[in-house]
Amino acid sequence: MHPDLEQVLFTEDQLMAEIRALGARLSADYAGRNPLFVCVLKGAVMFMTDLVKHVTVPLEMDFIAISSYGASSKSSGVVRILKDLDRPVEGRDIVIVEDIVDTGLTLAYLKESLQHRRAQSVRVVTLFDKPEGRKVDIQPDYACFQVPNAFIVGYGLDYAERYRNLPFVGILKPSVYIG
Ligand code: PRP
Repeated sequence: MHPDLEQVLFTEDQLMAEIRALGARLSADYAGRNPLFVCVLKGAVMFMTDLVKHVTVPLEMDFIAISSYGASSKSSGVVRILKDLDRPVEGRDIVIVEDIVDTGLTLAYLKESLQHRRAQSVRVVTLFDKPEGRKVDIQPDYACFQVPNAFIVGYGLDYAERYRNLPFVGILKPSVYIG
């Protein structure tokens, strides 16, 4: 437990068990293929590195960093690429690796961008799905956990860049971000 958290939602053991199971599912679903796993920085870094250890098909990894244009445009879905992928995606089977899908705006942009670049297939894997936050009709293909509409941090997820290094995930005390 951390003093800034009001509740632990998922322990490290719970996270690892689901991630291991997801790795096995992906290994079966991508049998005979060579997918490109695309990690969406920074929140998904922990999840990506643990997940790929449990995928047994040959795969490649790449990283993309995207940001919304300021606070107001978070709801408009206008985002920009801060760091693009290193290699072309044309003809590739893409697995987007996200830490959380909330409004879905980031994902909608990213999926469209990769499809526009002529990826052969694009699927989305997320550690956390927050369906109550959705503003666009988009669903992840694989989700480890559904989470409530609360401010969660840890295992990659931050508040003001903090708490990413916690090995577990919990709900942040409102007193930390209010006032
Ligand atoms: C978070 C998260 C997703 C996105 C999900 O990233 O990693 O990429 O927000 O939210 P949405 O569904 O409402 O678009 P953030 O912009 O906080 O950057 P970070 O991963 O570097 O923390």
